[in-house]
Amino acid sequence: MIVRVPGDKSLTQRALILAALASGPSRLSGLLHGGDAESTARALRALGADIPVLPGDGSEIVVGGVGLRGLRRPTGVLDLGNSGTGARLLMGALAGSGVTATLTGDASLRGRPMARVTRPLTAMGAEIRFSEADGRLPVEVVGRHPLEPIDWPSPVASAQVKSSILLAGLTGRAFALVTEPCQSRDHTERMLRFLGVSVIEHATSDGWRVEMRDPPDRLRPFEFEVPGDVSSAAFVLALAALGGAGPAGVTVQGVGLNPSRTAFLDVLARMGAPVEIEARSAVDEPGIEPAGDVTVRPAELSATSVGGDEIPRLLDELPLIAVLGARAEGVTTIRDAGELRAKESDRIAAVTRNLRALGVEVEEHHGGLAVRGSDRPLSGRVQSFDDHRITMSFGVLGVVSSRAIEIDDPSVASVSFPGFWRLMDDLARAPERAR
Ligand code: S3P
Repeated sequence: MIVRVPGDKSLTQRALILAALASGPSRLSGLLHGGDAESTARALRALGADIPVLPGDGSEIVVGGVGLRGLRRPTGVLDLGNSGTGARLLMGALAGSGVTATLTGDASLRGRPMARVTRPLTAMGAEIRFSEADGRLPVEVVGRHPLEPIDWPSPVASAQVKSSILLAGLTGRAFALVTEPCQSRDHTERMLRFLGVSVIEHATSDGWRVEMRDPPDRLRPFEFEVPGDVSSAAFVLALAALGGAGPAGVTVQGVGLNPSRTAFLDVLARMGAPVEIEARSAVDEPGIEPAGDVTVRPAELSATSVGGDEIPRLLDELPLIAVLGARAEGVTTIRDAGELRAKESDRIAAVTRNLRALGVEVEEHHGGLAVRGSDRPLSGRVQSFDDHRITMSFGVLGVVSSRAIEIDDPSVASVSFPGFWRLMDDLARAPERAR
């Protein structure tokens, strides 16, 4: 079966933020209209940008940007819902804007660490006031302009931290240099370069260095097409690998293939699934995120190990890899992934609890887990933990377990993948239709 998945969550939010900061109208298409994208769009509207309703079919919208110095003070609190990317990137953009705004989020987002961005933003000269608990939302950002230059060693490889600092440098007209332990997704760097901003990056003995020099005083409006989200495609491709979509497998068309995001495809191949990638655009064509079609067919899977520098390139797919491990031969191990504990839920604890609830043998470590695969039937009740990726990972397992797995709140999937359950049903029926 050939399918498409909704637009990339990371790129949608970046496109909206940069279009809001551009001087004039930008044309965006392929945007995600899931919960996180809606939250960021709503916050940008409150800051003065003209953003129409996000269409459900990826059709083009025109975003009226206010310019790098044009954000206005919002009348109410900015509620970023479940979106860590929205909250952290907007804090950066606000830090250099001279505007004051208070940001909050849902219970999951209010529990997530914010000091990783507020510390560098404070070092650049913005004022940050936590109103309830230190390092947690809600937070008031008192933007300043211009900001001080920064040379920040980030202890975590986090695209949200890196992007927040770059956006602060952009609105605050400050030199910004970030060094991360290894390269995290580079969408912001690519988009800034596309818009003519000088951003250079390279490996150093300390990790990965990204440097923005001479930020411009205006950002040109632009046209941008968001490809399908490879992290959403991962669920569909995992289902195909497990045989849940029939012997022919699945092709996902028009999916983002940015190399800083695609290590899950390497893992699927390593576990034994046939993976075919047909690239439709060049990896380094400016202004275009690489995209193409990915086909996966079913296979007997074998266990694998993931860790080290591979982790940031498949960060959001780790719960799914653990779930695949439950159906693979041998023990699948995940290490160096302590960051998973700071996501929409503590994903290491959530996966461990859910897999154990189904009778799977799991060992939990601070920075990962080990899952013993088996082919015996799995059944039981699992929790969503208010986390879209936990929900969808176990959703895939449910489809290949004759629906004997019940999830307490399936609706959470719509944060990044509206239509997920309908697509799962269609894929699960594909073998019947082929008969
Ligand atoms: C994202 C970066 C990653 C990822 C998240 C989206 C982004 O988080 O887990 O889903 O859009 O920059 P970190 O930056 O916290 O690693």
